[in-house]
Amino acid sequence: MTKTDSAQAMRTKSPASEKVTLTFDENGQQKSYHLPLLTGNLGPKVIDIRDLYAKTGYFTYDPGFTSTASCDSAITYIDGENGILLHRGYRIEDLAEHCDFLEVAYLLLHKELPTQKQFEDYHHEISLHTLLHEQLINFYKGFRRDAHPMAIMVGVVGALSAFYHDSLDLHNPYQRELASTRLIAKIPSMAAIAYKYSIGHPFMYPHNKLKYAENFLHMMFAVPSYEYQVNPVLAKAMNRILVLHADHEQNASTSTVRLASSSGANPFACIAAGIASLWGPAHGGANEAVLNMLTEIGDKSRIPEFIKRAKDKNDPFRLMGFGHRVYKNYDPRAQVLRKSCHEVLQELGIKDEPLLGIALELEKIALDDPYFIEKKLFPNVDFYSGIILKAMGIPTSMFTVLFAVARTIGWVAQWREMIEDPIQKIGRPRQRYVGHEQRNFMPLNQR
Ligand code: ACO
Repeated sequence: MTKTDSAQAMRTKSPASEKVTLTFDENGQQKSYHLPLLTGNLGPKVIDIRDLYAKTGYFTYDPGFTSTASCDSAITYIDGENGILLHRGYRIEDLAEHCDFLEVAYLLLHKELPTQKQFEDYHHEISLHTLLHEQLINFYKGFRRDAHPMAIMVGVVGALSAFYHDSLDLHNPYQRELASTRLIAKIPSMAAIAYKYSIGHPFMYPHNKLKYAENFLHMMFAVPSYEYQVNPVLAKAMNRILVLHADHEQNASTSTVRLASSSGANPFACIAAGIASLWGPAHGGANEAVLNMLTEIGDKSRIPEFIKRAKDKNDPFRLMGFGHRVYKNYDPRAQVLRKSCHEVLQELGIKDEPLLGIALELEKIALDDPYFIEKKLFPNVDFYSGIILKAMGIPTSMFTVLFAVARTIGWVAQWREMIEDPIQKIGRPRQRYVGHEQRNFMPLNQR
């Protein structure tokens, strides 16, 4: 068996004898049902409840899916208690330190790290698709200049479905590959144009000799009237940010992509759905929210006031960049970015950046505070990424767009895994109905 069969292996690994027993009273009679217990390669065992309703007439209840595994996956593993993140078995710290973003993309999509030759071929393949259809560029001109770039991204990425009819057939492996390549190649170009449009600058065409992160910086910051040299320290930091955001298991936007595509919808429309989900401040919008929060705090002396508000049950305010659904320890991505943050500020000669000063002080105070300790609220990846991006000159409204550029790899890899999974079916959760029972209808004139 090859490593690439690991998703299949997870299904067959559990001895058939491993079961859990569910016992309950039904009309005064005690009934027991045996449910299979499945084991993955790492992480908790899962109780297979697929037949539960058919056997018992009961649903399970799990708002937010906090205890529900929705699929088998061999892409990403997170151990939230110990702050571990692995992609196809490799530690995120190693990938962020040593890999080009396209190496990680290749790993997520093709299940192994590329050889030098495979990497060069993949880079070439991607570079053939970096241009946008000129007609698509007209779409941008229909948006207001002050539109949020995520609003533009939802629109233009969805619009790709109208341009590439030859890569919409999910059941055709060649078309799936082509759609994946197009999405990964075009998303930085689409993001950079959204920015250029907002500031009224001419759009910069991609420069295919550059690496993925460099090319993105080039399309964001170059102008036709000057020669633009990509700063290697900033390119390294951008590459790291992209690698750190490439995938994160079954998070809200990835689950959205999977759920949308489970109906057979085309990949471009599904990635647009992922972008919409990512936009929310509890997910990808958090680094923008962190920066807004640090600006609002404004001075270290006001930190205690904001900590107090974060702890107040009657105040909806939360400390942005703190807490995570899965990590109940330091987010390993935040550790990498903390270091990167200092490198970038030093390279740019930004001493005493006030927002970083507030961020570091806030981090220190929160990590010592019994409320945050008890609830296991640690800084997450968004806590530092906003400061780095701001220092690079990227406007806050583009932060989530950048996250979407990186996460497109994860969405595409997860989408392909789902389509290739023989047990995949349309996603259709059930509910606990708490509305009216059946009642008699009254015509309008009698109400
Ligand atoms: N500040 C203050 N209190 C918090 C915070 C926070 N940032 N996060 C969680 N809590 C508290 C909650 O009030 C809750 O308290 P309670 O048990 O007394 O009711 C407890 O900690 C658990 O919080 P939940 O919301 O139930 O945890 P959940 O796993 O659903 O939420 C989330 C995770 C959404 C990330 C949350 O921690 C949050 O809103 N953080 C701020 C936004 C943020 O930084 N998001 C980025 C996430 S990372 C990413 O998407 C890349």
